[in-house]
Amino acid sequence: MEKVISGIRPTGNLHLGNYFGAVKSFLQMQDEYDCMFFIADWHSLTTHPTPENIRQSVRTILSEYLACGIDPEKAPIYVQSDVKPVLELYLYLNMNAYLGELERVTSFKEKARTQPDNVNAGLLTYPTLMAADVLAHKADKVPVRKDQDQNMEMMRLFARRFNRIYNVDFFKEPQSYHFYKTAVKVPGLDGSGKMGKSNGNCIYLCDDEATIRKKVMKAVTDSGPTQLNQQKPEVIQNLFTLLELVSTKDTCDYFNDQYNAMTIRYGDLKKQLAADVNAFCAPIRERILEFQSNEEYIQKVAARGAERASESAAATLREVRQIIGFRA
Ligand code: TRP
Repeated sequence: MEKVISGIRPTGNLHLGNYFGAVKSFLQMQDEYDCMFFIADWHSLTTHPTPENIRQSVRTILSEYLACGIDPEKAPIYVQSDVKPVLELYLYLNMNAYLGELERVTSFKEKARTQPDNVNAGLLTYPTLMAADVLAHKADKVPVRKDQDQNMEMMRLFARRFNRIYNVDFFKEPQSYHFYKTAVKVPGLDGSGKMGKSNGNCIYLCDDEATIRKKVMKAVTDSGPTQLNQQKPEVIQNLFTLLELVSTKDTCDYFNDQYNAMTIRYGDLKKQLAADVNAFCAPIRERILEFQSNEEYIQKVAARGAERASESAAATLREVRQIIGFRA
């Protein structure tokens, strides 16, 4: 079976946009591939050298992914910093990664610009650590967003270069799996096209009922349709798109008819949307709370994940050492 691996940047709670994007594709992939998912806590040090409560946020991420349905039996989930053999591969890859090419990576240049007082070597070698994450398991596919394409190119370059320098056919070139291309784009509640943390327009999977209602009732609308059967402006289409994700077809048809007949009351639409978003989130939210209060289980999942990932990475590193000429 083809191997899939993906890293999750610890950037806060999951929202509906994440759910219908990365999370849903992870759920699908865990049934079709030999998957592993990990929390990239080392990578986060490149921008946050003194993370606050990293253990707490790791626990939250694990709880949320498990609550969504990641099955650790099918798809081990682990914390990057628990799997040490990756570090050794990071070192070997760094020996054959060149300053010029690392400096040319767009995300490096961007971060160097936004944090000029902290242009550290970890930031520069972000792509080699990411390559080590994946090559240590000889993965075939990596589910990523478009913004990771350049990191994926570097990963393939490092794999090819290793093979060439040591005259072996050892690493294969991992392919990007662009899940976002087929995923539903979840709109924001502020009239913008995309739900995203930086836009502050999110419904989080852990939001309680009152919070969901408050956010949905505040969603941006317009002054209503002015013609029968008119095309919906973006702000209104956004609400209908959300409705389609969480409501029944009958409900969607009902509000569509109301809109087309110009009899729609946005207050009613929002009340229904809030109720259906809550019905959708409630079981996930309950599981999140359950997992969060069961620290022992979360620890066990992470420990078992780390064990499986360490075995896989250690096996690769034994071969790598032999190839370079060290004692295996
Ligand atoms: N760079 C990825 C991101 O920003 C996170 C990541 C780290 C990753 N290592 C990885 C993704 C390995 C896939 C595979 O989202």
